[in-house]
Amino acid sequence: TLYKNAEEASIYTANTIAALISRKQKEGKHAVLGLATGNTPKRVYQELIRMHNDEGLSFQNVISFNLDEYFPINAGDSQSYTYFMEQNLFAHVDIKSSNIHIPHVDGSSTDISKYCNEYEEKIASYGGLDLQLLGIGRNGHIGFNEPRSSFDSITRLVNLHPVTREDAKSDFGTLENVPQQAISMGINTILQAKKILLLALGQRKSEIINKAIYGAVSIDTPASILQSLPQVEYILDSDAAALI
Ligand code: GLP
Repeated sequence: TLYKNAEEASIYTANTIAALISRKQKEGKHAVLGLATGNTPKRVYQELIRMHNDEGLSFQNVISFNLDEYFPINAGDSQSYTYFMEQNLFAHVDIKSSNIHIPHVDGSSTDISKYCNEYEEKIASYGGLDLQLLGIGRNGHIGFNEPRSSFDSITRLVNLHPVTREDAKSDFGTLENVPQQAISMGINTILQAKKILLLALGQRKSEIINKAIYGAVSIDTPASILQSLPQVEYILDSDAAALI
């Protein structure tokens, strides 16, 4: 799917998510959404908020699981994905707070691998993700599944790639302030979603989009695994699609 501009691509993405929520609501079921952070989905979330306010789109039946979160980080820090989601979506819609899941671990006392396994189990307990929204990093990462991540990976503690930390520098002020690690759903976790929307906007994504869609399927480009999957839809603006 190609869209002329970022606005149209974002509206299309929001409409797809809203249609799923409404359909599940009519069936009396939960809509289990995998959500992403970053600049890319911001406009999508704004449109969902607008539909909530103007068109009565309800999030009462939504169960959300975010892809990733920095580690360590305080949930209240402005760079945390917990804070991002609250600011950019959750505070503005009627989602139940008990239905929100973000892989945030506070403090040192938590057994992280146990926490990650429980995150996986929780997703499974709702029958898996109905839809996963994805952005893409300039190095081809999805979530925080950096190059060399196994295609079989599940939710776990990961080390951030230098390109990723460099891109996050503007949020954290200095490179030293960018966490070295994160907790991320794995590639296998993502691939289990019934529908996957990969949204990429802007010229800075054009090179990696070309590589991810037409390059070799390789763990060097994590997003390349999506190429062969029927449930994947790429939603690109003309700048991100410039090289394909
Ligand atoms: C971060 C997130 C990814 C996101 C990527 C791209 O690394 N963990 O989920 O896709 O950044 O961010 P942006 O949309 O700001 O370009």
